[in-house]
Amino acid sequence: MTVDVSTTALDTAAVKAQFPLLRRQIDGAPLHYLDSANTSQKPQCVIDAMSRFTETSYAPINRSAYRLAAEATDAYEAARTKVARFVNARQADEIVFTKNATEALNLVAQAWGRANLTDGDVVVLTHMEHHANVVPWHMLVAERGIELRWIPLTDDGRLDLSELPRLLDGAKVLSFSAMSNVLGTLAPVPELCAAAHDAGALAVVDACQYVPHNATDVQAWGADFAAFSSHKMCGPSGIGALWGRAELLDETPPFLGGGNMIADVRLDGFTAAPVPAKFEAGTPPITEAIGFGAAADFMSALGMDAVRAHEVELTGYALQTLEDRFGDDITIHGPRDMEHRGGVVSFAFRDLHPHDVSQVLDQRNVCIRAGHHCAKPLMRLLGAAATARASFYLYNDRDDVDALAEALDGASDIFGL
Ligand SMILES: Cc1ncc(COP(=O)(O)O)c(C=O)c1O
Repeated sequence: MTVDVSTTALDTAAVKAQFPLLRRQIDGAPLHYLDSANTSQKPQCVIDAMSRFTETSYAPINRSAYRLAAEATDAYEAARTKVARFVNARQADEIVFTKNATEALNLVAQAWGRANLTDGDVVVLTHMEHHANVVPWHMLVAERGIELRWIPLTDDGRLDLSELPRLLDGAKVLSFSAMSNVLGTLAPVPELCAAAHDAGALAVVDACQYVPHNATDVQAWGADFAAFSSHKMCGPSGIGALWGRAELLDETPPFLGGGNMIADVRLDGFTAAPVPAKFEAGTPPITEAIGFGAAADFMSALGMDAVRAHEVELTGYALQTLEDRFGDDITIHGPRDMEHRGGVVSFAFRDLHPHDVSQVLDQRNVCIRAGHHCAKPLMRLLGAAATARASFYLYNDRDDVDALAEALDGASDIFGL
């Protein structure tokens, strides 16, 4: 695949030109899509890869002896290899395709957790988790009485690790987000994985917001499991991945039962297929896997260091612009220092409800998210029912930030502030 952008620095105009949807106008004006932490737009090469596959190679995978089916199976497995390389997994079989990051985290809690955790065992989470890394553990608490402990946050929205040894004492699992979808906070992933292992606990990383924005090396992290979604990294929705260390995946029992995940089925039971098929019950999202692989290729060609550098520059500009322009009228949550945060900017604007802010911004084609961002425990900590959130990605530029600031000014006018 050819990607006509520089691999050293991000040429945003060239990148943006590859996203057909971003050429769309509403009411004759351009769109400012600032909701990529929610879901990202798709480049032409991903759309083309999926169309081409559908038009020329679509067939069942793993089940049929004819050549078309073999070709489809090869393409599906090639996509797995691309995704594995993208996060530097040791081998392709360490990638399990799931529906999304949510399903990947449920797989860990339900399949590994049920097999390994009993009454009184401790699972450590953090106060900045998405519901996808909270509710599956709550479900396990309800089923078998495990204890949840929580890593708190500092006043500036970073993880407060001062009590980490005490929290991890006797724990079986530390499961945490590598980057918060509300605060943008980056967790010190290798440090947390090492601390978990020192305490005899497994390290599970919710990498859903991290993988699309940063070079990811699961081996260097020293993690045990990591979950992420294709739709947040320029790929299609309907597919995500669980990466797991091969030995761990081998010893984890299956999650969902059915076709494709078995080596044998008898009247008195079944034998599971080897990893990763063991965790991919039923017909998988085949075309979406091809799109996921194409997205990994696209991002690799851009260079993830360049993507991160672009987001650091742009988010720094956004923070400065909003603070300079609105001063005390805006409260921005999360760390101020770009070293510790990604391109997610949650804020409160004057005393306007975030939904009102979002609706007014929409009139100027500025798309942001307003709500609890599936992080209600964190919202309670912030003392807010909701926040407004602008999130930046590789196709955003300073025009988008300026449009956000202008639209916020417009909101003040509309509400007579
Ligand atoms: C930090 C984090 N974890 C998990 C998820 C769940 O992702 P998905 O809805 O793709 O399963 C999200 C989605 O916003 C997220 O931001």
